[in-house]
Amino acid sequence: MDYLPIFLDVAGKVVIVDGGTTVAARRIERALSAGAKVLNFDPDPGAEVRAFFGHDNLTHHARLPVEADFEGCLVAYGASEVAERDALLYAAAKKHGALANVADEKEYCDFITPSVVERDPLTIAISTGGAAPVVARILRARVEAMLPAAYGRLADFLSGYRDRIADKIKGGTARRRFWENMIEGSVGDAFLAGDEALAARLVEDDLARGDTELRRGEVWLVGAGPGDPDLLTFKALRMMQHADVVLYDRLIGPGILDLVRRDAERINVGKVAGDHVMTQDETTALLIKLAKAGKRVLRLKGGDPFIFGRGGEELEDVAEHGIPVIVVPGITAAAGCGASAGIPLTHRDHSQSVVFVTAHGKDGLLPHDWARLARHDQTVVVYMGLRFVADIAEAAMAQGVPAEMPIAVIDNGTRTTQRVVTGTLATIGNKVGVADLKGPALIVIGSVVTLRDTLGVDAVAREDVHEMELVAREGL
Ligand SMILES: C[S@@+](CC[C@H](N)C(=O)[O-])C[C@H]1O[C@@H](n2cnc3c(N)ncnc32)[C@H](O)[C@@H]1O
Repeated sequence: MDYLPIFLDVAGKVVIVDGGTTVAARRIERALSAGAKVLNFDPDPGAEVRAFFGHDNLTHHARLPVEADFEGCLVAYGASEVAERDALLYAAAKKHGALANVADEKEYCDFITPSVVERDPLTIAISTGGAAPVVARILRARVEAMLPAAYGRLADFLSGYRDRIADKIKGGTARRRFWENMIEGSVGDAFLAGDEALAARLVEDDLARGDTELRRGEVWLVGAGPGDPDLLTFKALRMMQHADVVLYDRLIGPGILDLVRRDAERINVGKVAGDHVMTQDETTALLIKLAKAGKRVLRLKGGDPFIFGRGGEELEDVAEHGIPVIVVPGITAAAGCGASAGIPLTHRDHSQSVVFVTAHGKDGLLPHDWARLARHDQTVVVYMGLRFVADIAEAAMAQGVPAEMPIAVIDNGTRTTQRVVTGTLATIGNKVGVADLKGPALIVIGSVVTLRDTLGVDAVAREDVHEMELVAREGL
């Protein structure tokens, strides 16, 4: 983060706006709405600036500012679009200890002006740190569209209950949860639907019930998808924003963890082949312990928790302790990787069914019946098979699957680091060895793999290791 986000109290303080442009008008408007005493300088301001004339807190000077004007000034905005005026404004602001901001002149900016969504008293400020203001503006428009105008009034309405809630609900976690339940539950729904009287009644009901129902812990088993944070579900995101503790494993990328509520505790229970951070039993015991302590515990799993995610095993133990459990599905690696590598897992001309198998079980490589699985009209998706690609291909050929059966290995699917190696059962072992893939990786076996070339889908494939490339590079 290059800039410190803060909201400045300018009520009653002097804010200078130099210029008579449209930008000057926007600066004046915002400073006035925050209660500042605004001094505007311009010999011949445009109509948008003149529209503020007569406002109690605006003083207009029909001249250029001089250094002495900046004494006691807290914030100085340059919006004249005249280089000499900008230079004077910045120097004078510095001399008098004011924060300066000259529109579109980065070297004259102590701060940047964010894009703002206002639902008074709610204010949302969005910034890209100056890197791409248009992105911030587009985001602002989206937030505007998705945030009901009544949210500001909801904040006002609820602020009237602050003291009573603080008296009644003791403890930071319980109180935060109480607020969340009100805002996201029936109180918020009633208020946003325009029924303030019902909302008030419901708050009284909640207050009468107190925090007895809030102390119960829960376990939420949530699928985080294959890696691209945009593939999270809304529900997963919402729960990530509400959890007290998040237990995650190594398949969860940093872009996803960043979306967890800032002050939630994060515990890495992940396993890096052989190097156990925490055993399965220890993880389950921790889930139970935390939930029994009244926490909302989110177990974040890569992909879908019920597909080779041991979600079922973990939940059996948790449920035995009478702890309420919620499961949120995620996009499994097969669906994510198929889409991002341009390989449809079924296709009427190629494959009428798809099976998901894991390459190895508790005791190592599984002795699959490849002749039955890798039929000409079926796609096979193999999870956890990267280390065994050559063994799998050989076993399949030994069981009679044609050596020219197409096969793909998708490494880090849906992520910016995605790589895809395609070939046949006869060539894939060699190619994967050359490509030196690191995983996680998924194997897709079946003629649908050939569609990758015809569909031209390349959603993320940033560094695709394609057959021809490899042939050229390695002379295979
Ligand atoms: C323990 S399983 C978990 C599967 C997960 N529950 C799901 O639904 O995708 C881990 C395996 O999933 C596959 N996998 C997960 N994320 C992947 C990704 N981004 N790209 C390729 N394969 C992935 C790999 O085969 C990896 O070894």
